[in-house]
Amino acid sequence: MTTAELHDQYVLGTYGRFPVSFTHGTGTEVWDEAGKRYLDFGSGIAVCSLGHAPAVMQQAMAEQSAKLIHCSNLYQIRPQAELAQWISDVAMERPGKTFFSNSGAEANDGLIKLARKRSFDLHGSETHKVNIVTCQQSFHGRTLGGIAATGQDKVKVGFDPLLPGFLHVPFNDCAALREAVDESTAAIMLEPVQGEGGIHTATPEFFQTADQLRDEFGCLIFFDEVQCGFGRTGDWCAWRTILRDSDFSVEPDAVSWAKGMGGGFPIGSFWVADEHAAHLGPGTHGSTYGGSPLASTVSLRVLKEIEDQGLCDQIAEKEELVRTTVQEWGLPLVTDVRGLGLLLGIVVDAQQAGGLYDPDSATPLSIQIVAECLRAGLLVVPAGPDVVRIIPPLNVNHSHLQEGLTILNSVLSRFATA
Ligand SMILES: Cc1ncc(COP(=O)(O)O)c(C=O)c1O
Repeated sequence: MTTAELHDQYVLGTYGRFPVSFTHGTGTEVWDEAGKRYLDFGSGIAVCSLGHAPAVMQQAMAEQSAKLIHCSNLYQIRPQAELAQWISDVAMERPGKTFFSNSGAEANDGLIKLARKRSFDLHGSETHKVNIVTCQQSFHGRTLGGIAATGQDKVKVGFDPLLPGFLHVPFNDCAALREAVDESTAAIMLEPVQGEGGIHTATPEFFQTADQLRDEFGCLIFFDEVQCGFGRTGDWCAWRTILRDSDFSVEPDAVSWAKGMGGGFPIGSFWVADEHAAHLGPGTHGSTYGGSPLASTVSLRVLKEIEDQGLCDQIAEKEELVRTTVQEWGLPLVTDVRGLGLLLGIVVDAQQAGGLYDPDSATPLSIQIVAECLRAGLLVVPAGPDVVRIIPPLNVNHSHLQEGLTILNSVLSRFATA
């Protein structure tokens, strides 16, 4: 049976999959079953920070798996504790404590539990504040907590009754945020750069408003850095990249991560500032696999490699290369390049599309372009109907970056009006 036939017969059809199956890769390059080569500007959706099959990950896996792969959280796990130390000392630069999960959605579920438990501890069961304010077009994962937090109806349809207590405000709308937050608010939860929702970057004013509301109502601020965190924007923390030229800074009470922190090895986590950490004490939360010796060792090696290679410092230059190159093309089809660092969205306008564009197809323009890029040997990822996401490995080299952009240009030109 072909891989497609196996999928059709045996794998639950929850994904719309492109008709290709990859067998191996190295760095930014990846090959399919037919031996065709692609440049990977999707990184498994912002996961493969160091590209495919990086030597440091191979080595970390080989070494640690020869010693101890799994160990229950009934016991102390040194690699987990060392990774948590690195997160507080290097990424957060603040005292705090980390819980380890296996994915981003689970990490966000942990944040939701933190918000509720803190309110319960402070206010008691009758009156505790339970509401969490998130943003429209946000994405926080596919668990029942994650879809309730997500500000997109399409992920919720058919799954009622949803977890109650979520309000969604338009992203970057300070007045709406002010309107939504009150005494009943336990937390404000934001993606500093919305990924799945179409690559939108939070404004400093939006952070500032959240900060003021926290002061006023005593709620918490959570940042979901699952997609934008750990180097992708040129800093460990995307909100710091956003505020780098601002005279204002904001410090969240808790942060969730996943994706790039494992470089492809499944791991997620949330960090909680020390002053709130006691709300999740013994018996309040757990995971069989979370923070296993193997996952923690690999993740710490990935993060230290990003640090040792100084990759964060190279992101702004790579971003600039993408932005100026796309601008030089001068394609009317491309109306904007949104995002930050190597989490960029090429915004396309269906009104300006022609050539290969099929306006009668149920497939949106972004996906038609992504499918054509695939045929041309470039992996990119849609982010809504009119955004093509560019999220290459953080260590993508200049020649691959330029080669990928050349492919993208030739594909986009085929979607331009004659
Ligand atoms: C911002 C954000 N939060 C949470 C998630 C969910 O992460 P996971 O798929 O690992 O559960 C995603 C996944 O795309 C995401 O982009």
